[in-house]
Amino acid sequence: MNMTIIVTGGAGFIGSNFIFHMLDKYPDYRIICLDCLTYAGNLSTLEPVMDRPNFRFVKESITDREAVYKLFEEEHPDMVVNFAAESHVDRSIKDPFTFAKTNVMGTLSLLQAAKVHWESLPEKYEGKRFYHISTDEVYGALELTNPEGIESPFTTTASSKEHHHAYGSEFFLETTKYNPHSPYSASKASSDHFVRAYHDTYGMPTIVTNCSNNYGPYQFPEKLIPLFINNIRHRKPLPVYGKGENVRDWLYVVDHARAIDLIFHKGNVAETYNIGGFNEWKNIDIIKVVIRTVDRLLGNPEGHSDELITYVTDRAGHDLRYAIDSRKLQKELGWEPSLQFEEGIEKTVRWYLDNQAWMDNITSGEYERYYDDMYKNR
Ligand code: NAD
Ligand code: DAU
Repeated sequence: MNMTIIVTGGAGFIGSNFIFHMLDKYPDYRIICLDCLTYAGNLSTLEPVMDRPNFRFVKESITDREAVYKLFEEEHPDMVVNFAAESHVDRSIKDPFTFAKTNVMGTLSLLQAAKVHWESLPEKYEGKRFYHISTDEVYGALELTNPEGIESPFTTTASSKEHHHAYGSEFFLETTKYNPHSPYSASKASSDHFVRAYHDTYGMPTIVTNCSNNYGPYQFPEKLIPLFINNIRHRKPLPVYGKGENVRDWLYVVDHARAIDLIFHKGNVAETYNIGGFNEWKNIDIIKVVIRTVDRLLGNPEGHSDELITYVTDRAGHDLRYAIDSRKLQKELGWEPSLQFEEGIEKTVRWYLDNQAWMDNITSGEYERYYDDMYKNR
């Protein structure tokens, strides 16, 4: 089956991993990446696929309604997968307006272009999908009722073998009420509501998925794992927010891409699916795993980089615990992640150490100044 897919935000972390996955698996699909290349988008990431005949890169913003509509008229996409967003919580605390503009207005402009274009076709919405990528952060925060952690009642193949903890008895379900706390999650929640409104009001075939923290190659080094790998390499401090007790559920990015592929082909329209690994970690514990792995791979003695750990002022409104329940996806569509946590983290650290040119390129100049400034203010 041939298919034309517009992937927005494909020069970023998850979008690029999704594009690689799709181009490898479906050589007959045409993929158009729509990305305006903010600080987080990097064209060098897409270099390996730039010359493929079934791939096109378009540098435009999803907020530009005319440009987006023109692209729909040119490409007649069957599907849209919307990754494009401002994605970093700390930045949203400093500059919420940019988050509202991109995440809310940008998503709305994409929805409207899809509506006008698809409704003009004889087949209208038949065979079409608007797939919106969202986050577990829209659900708010869970209590940390087991601060020491107990054996988690649930598992996927992504769960850590050595450390399989749950830090509370509650998990986010697809039916959990939205309760976003940060400007980032508020903007994502708002965009999710617009996507669902386009289904309910106009009958657009939409799907929303909410995923937990991703880790893996090509992640911008302002996010915990690549930031810490890079800082260890440069012997810079590792800023742990608050006491390092906040809990996140971690999933290897390619397993997120595989889940999207599965839901995109087999998921039901108007449904929500949660995606996560049942792989909860306190920040300080995952930081220790990262330090241990980097030191080992760099040939440093064990404990060499522990001294870089620096406790800093907590993130404002820092959500205590996210824990996603992905059993619906496992049961209904048979999704299982391919990588177990210990393999995933080893592969990730190796990738950053082997791709220092990518990291140096993306962290030079503007980002370095921004980061030094952020760190000074903590
Ligand atoms: P990212 O910041 O790495 O990449 C975002 C991409 O979007 C960049 O290439 C950027 O240039 C592009 N972009 C930003 N504004 C744009 C605009 N106005 N028009 C066109 N392109 C624009 O983000 P990511 O971590 O890959 O996240 C992708 C999506 O997945 C986001 O919607 C995010 O909310 C969601 N998500 C992320 C995670 C995670 O752990 N990273 C988890 C769950 C959901
Ligand atoms: O849960 C999904 C979300 O995961 C996505 O929607 C977001 O786009 C993505 O950025 C991520 O959000 P987090 O805020 O959880 O990720 P981040 O890597 O910024 O932080 C992970 C945890 O580590 C968080 O509790 C804050 C803490 N942290 C982060 C940084 C950057 C630190 O302690 N020190 C740091 O320097």
